[in-house]
Amino acid sequence: MKKIAKRLVALLLCGATLFTPATWAASDGVEVNHLGVNNTLVRVTGNGNYLLFPVEEANDDSRVQVLVDGNIVETIYVRLARSKTDYTVPYDLTPYKGKHVVFEIVTPQGRESVREAKEDACWKGLELADTLDTANQEKYRPAFHHTPLYGWMNDPNGMFYKDGQWHLYYQCNPYGSKWQNMTWGHAVSSDLIHWEHKPNAIKPNGLGTVFSGSCAVDYHNTAGFGKGTVLAMYTSAGTSQMQSLASSTDNGLTFDIYAGNPTLTLESEARDPNMFWNEKTGAWSLVLAHALDREMLFFSSPDMKKWTWQGRFGKGIGAQDGVWECPDLFELPVAGSDETKWMLLCNINPGGPFGGSATQYFIGDFDGKTFQADTDPSGNVPTKWLDYGKDHYATVSWSDAPDNRRTLIGWMSNWQYAADVPTRQFRSANTLPREVGLFRGADGEIYASCAPSPELEGLRDQLVRKVGKADIGWKSCSYSLPTAHDGICEILFEIDTRKSKAVEMTLFNQEGDKVVMKYNSERHTFSFDRRESGLVDFNENFPAVTVSPTFEEKGVISLRLFIDRSSIEVFGDGGRFVMTHLVFPRRPYSQLSFSSEGGNARLGDLKVYSLTTK
Ligand code: FRU
Repeated sequence: MKKIAKRLVALLLCGATLFTPATWAASDGVEVNHLGVNNTLVRVTGNGNYLLFPVEEANDDSRVQVLVDGNIVETIYVRLARSKTDYTVPYDLTPYKGKHVVFEIVTPQGRESVREAKEDACWKGLELADTLDTANQEKYRPAFHHTPLYGWMNDPNGMFYKDGQWHLYYQCNPYGSKWQNMTWGHAVSSDLIHWEHKPNAIKPNGLGTVFSGSCAVDYHNTAGFGKGTVLAMYTSAGTSQMQSLASSTDNGLTFDIYAGNPTLTLESEARDPNMFWNEKTGAWSLVLAHALDREMLFFSSPDMKKWTWQGRFGKGIGAQDGVWECPDLFELPVAGSDETKWMLLCNINPGGPFGGSATQYFIGDFDGKTFQADTDPSGNVPTKWLDYGKDHYATVSWSDAPDNRRTLIGWMSNWQYAADVPTRQFRSANTLPREVGLFRGADGEIYASCAPSPELEGLRDQLVRKVGKADIGWKSCSYSLPTAHDGICEILFEIDTRKSKAVEMTLFNQEGDKVVMKYNSERHTFSFDRRESGLVDFNENFPAVTVSPTFEEKGVISLRLFIDRSSIEVFGDGGRFVMTHLVFPRRPYSQLSFSSEGGNARLGDLKVYSLTTK
């Protein structure tokens, strides 16, 4: 009898465990409900502006469907933590206050049992928060370059200027520091230096995630959304790539997705639409990267909705060892002449001169239908590079900029290793803004110059060193650099090698980290060696030496360097040659030394400014 009773109790207990709903609270206001080995529901029961998702970068993506009052509002992909949490990413709950919010999560395969799945670090780490940690204290987060507040960033895109504000959109992943969930992040600035973070502007929608594109102000109300509306054209990346339209009547803060999307489709991969109002044709002109075909396509439209094919450019021309992406097209005066020329930007990945991604450009003419590139005396179209560093990609310009300015900005990384760089809560910065111009080189060719935007002078704090003239001999002489704010600084000087052959310039610190730059006036080259610049072994493609032509004839160059924690940008002779490089020194570079080869050289007008972060 006793035995039977015991059995009954055991059975009842067993039944009780079997049918107890498997819900438990992860933390205050968050309920987790495991439905199976790879399927979990997370319900928000408390109050808080954000739900923090714990992320483990090495883990695969989980698919997270967000249900509000029972309807799916979006699907995002998050590398939810399995064994440890690297950092958390916030999911903004503020639009759904007072509603039922549930996340339906499918984690990657690989768990044996629900019991094992329950052990994943992410469940215990789910938390509600009212504020975000925006201190941005990561060691390698730049002080005066634009970076996203959280998560991954690649291409800058859709930039326009209106009412005194420079709008910068960018490809971002709000839910992790690796590429995913492509969304247009948004920042605004009145001086191109201090960026105010704005809410994400265009999110993945019915046609897919939101790849790169462009914006322009519709001053003639051609699209019918109203005079002064901001129009955005971007690539919808679903199963295929299509071009879509969106419009904004609040100066680019929020966009309405055009109900008639897509506005342009092709049978092959094409992306990154770059459009502008063409005064000469009285219509919109569009350049589209026919990525895998390695060419650019041209279209025109009266209203941004109906597009007519006009022409193509590029098959077999220029650098062809990678896909063609992120075009831009504009007309510029050639310095010292009455001539104007069109410049076509063509970002290519891989196939850059030093591996991975880079920006090539073509100079020529555009008649509203197609682009015709200038040829050299032998009848070839020369390959020209905008920047000779490894970390300059997806460069495009602001539309509607004031004073006929053509201001560019690029993504300061390289697809070879962008996802591996030693940062955490954010990944990637944009380059400093640059003013593009054209000049004729000694070889008769027209080249692009990229000078730092004049606003950058506003960053200067104190002139911490000034040297009028100094001899540079074979024995190196060095100057100390500012230490405030981790050594961020601007350095300007001139090198005169008319009585020598080359000058070496080395940035170094007490850890033995160094960057060796060399101006060789016999070869008219400038090189940058970051093989021992600090942390370099996170990816085999990171250690590198890059070389640029200097375009000078006389053996004298002026250099302007900007150092910002994890980057060095070198502008030679007012931007006639430029190099952009990431570096990860274990401590800030504290000295700059000079030495000469083949005779004495002269250092002139050395100025070192400490820079402000305000
Ligand atoms: C260039 C690019 C673009 C695309 C975007 C996606 O870096 O590949 O062609 O629109 O990134 O994030």
